[in-house]
Amino acid sequence: MLASAVIGHRGLASLAPENTLASIRMAHRYGIRWVELDASLLGDGCVVLCHDDSWDRCSNHSGLLCHSTAADLQFIDAGSWFSEQFRHEPIPTLSQALTLLSELDMGLNLELKAQTGIEYCLVIKQILPIIKTYWRSGFPILISSFDHELLHQYRQADSHQLLGTLYETIDNDWLNTQKQLRAASLHCDWNLLNPTQANDIVAVGYDLLVYTCNQQSDAKTLWNMGVHSIISDTPHLLAQR
Ligand code: G3P
Ligand code: MG
Repeated sequence: MLASAVIGHRGLASLAPENTLASIRMAHRYGIRWVELDASLLGDGCVVLCHDDSWDRCSNHSGLLCHSTAADLQFIDAGSWFSEQFRHEPIPTLSQALTLLSELDMGLNLELKAQTGIEYCLVIKQILPIIKTYWRSGFPILISSFDHELLHQYRQADSHQLLGTLYETIDNDWLNTQKQLRAASLHCDWNLLNPTQANDIVAVGYDLLVYTCNQQSDAKTLWNMGVHSIISDTPHLLAQR
């Protein structure tokens, strides 16, 4: 099994603002050993943690990330939208997040977001050296993306990186995609996974991860189906398998 049975979605997103250092610290405080985080690029190539391609939902700022640069980060509050307690929580750069995770000795599922106006080659050119420089945890990084072309290009740039394919509904070509990418895992929406698919994926040796399951009763069913890891907003409430 690559990752822990429970993975904190965007850190610990039910107790702290998603994709922030506070969210990573919160996960660690609750004994969560792995987190899933979303990586996006700014217009100058700076890699930050952010799920959306605009600032609007999760900060006091607005507009597209591709229209911002690293210099703008000092003015962005990524915490007060969540609660007053987190006011002034910054948008973390990927290097800051990897440094913290390495200090806390945690594992990471890093989801690469495909963004309008940002080329795949720039994403890879920027992210690869950050991982090489800042990742010091005893646990690995597992990179995933809904954009399988982005993963193909990542594989060409790094033949060793652990890669996972992300799906909403798993398509009929999933096994070919796994082989072509030399992927280690397959990640899908837990609501759309059926027991036959789960069985087939696990039978050929891939790790099966699902998102975003927040109920203990559902988690139990998924583990019984052979799912290895559950990505959850409430990882602290799901008993270990
Ligand atoms: O990586 C699992 C999950 O985070 C994918 O969906 O939209 O929450 O990033 P989303
Ligand atoms: Mg994600």
